[in-house]
Amino acid sequence: MVNLEGKDILDGAQFSREEIDFTMSVADDFRKQLKERPAIDLLKGNIMASLFFEPSTRTRLSFETAMHRLGGNVVGFSSAESTSTAKGETLVDTIRTVDQYADVIAMRHPQIGSAKEAAAVAKAPVLNGGDGAGQHPTQALLDLYTIKSERGHVDGTTIVLCGDLKNGRTVHAGVEIYKHYNCKLIMVAPEQLKMPADILAKLRDHGVAFEETTDLEAALAKGDVLYMTRIQKERFTDPAEYERLKGSYILTREMVERIQPKLTIMHPLPRVNEITTDVDSLTNAAYFRQVGNGVFVRMALIASVLGKV
Ligand code: NCD
Repeated sequence: MVNLEGKDILDGAQFSREEIDFTMSVADDFRKQLKERPAIDLLKGNIMASLFFEPSTRTRLSFETAMHRLGGNVVGFSSAESTSTAKGETLVDTIRTVDQYADVIAMRHPQIGSAKEAAAVAKAPVLNGGDGAGQHPTQALLDLYTIKSERGHVDGTTIVLCGDLKNGRTVHAGVEIYKHYNCKLIMVAPEQLKMPADILAKLRDHGVAFEETTDLEAALAKGDVLYMTRIQKERFTDPAEYERLKGSYILTREMVERIQPKLTIMHPLPRVNEITTDVDSLTNAAYFRQVGNGVFVRMALIASVLGKV
């Protein structure tokens, strides 16, 4: 019996296969319920604090939408400048404060480990919506949900992860989730932006089949799913290095049609230039449906940590 009540959601590695399956089925159930009505009365009177110290469109809005669709309320902020952080307040003091108001905390912060630091002082469960170049577990679960919903299954799938695998927190969390399935990972990145060695070591220990390459076209020829990512400009200390790497991989419609017409195309978004807009109208371009799935999966996680499912 899976019980996530009171748990923090901090990284992809914390999840067991049972917890992943449970989250997927609760998300599916919420998706069905929302076909009948705009909101569910499960969390009436509950408050979620939405603390975004770093820019966000989808993660913040989908966490907030998820809470509203569960019948709950939201307080929060969408930039650190409008808060006492600008006066020098520490993260820990801000969290101790918010803990007096809210039943659950969704947060994003530029520092790796910040969500863990918050969870250590908060009584309320903390949901990590991205900690710097660290982890982004709720995104990883909605990505898995998307693969299931687009293709019907995850086992047997070859997933191509492409772009900034060094700084991309979605892929750091993602591989910790995919490792529970019998799928193959092909990691495509420039030499400077490869998946960190400690994450690769964990995958090896877990017996995950993966390969690394710099050749996107060769990877696509073997892939079922492409998970494209943005080069993470804000993590670069040298702007010239970013300029050199930003055009490393660009997926075009011509490439999909020539190499792998059935490819399921995903991206956590925001897109900069790594998928050309002529790809958008392909039926297998899944990235905007992926955005919608974020609401169901975040509903499942919020309701779970509050002990309501
Ligand atoms: C990602 C993030 O913030 O890590 N976006 C998201 O949450 N959907 C990916 C990115 O910013 O490139």
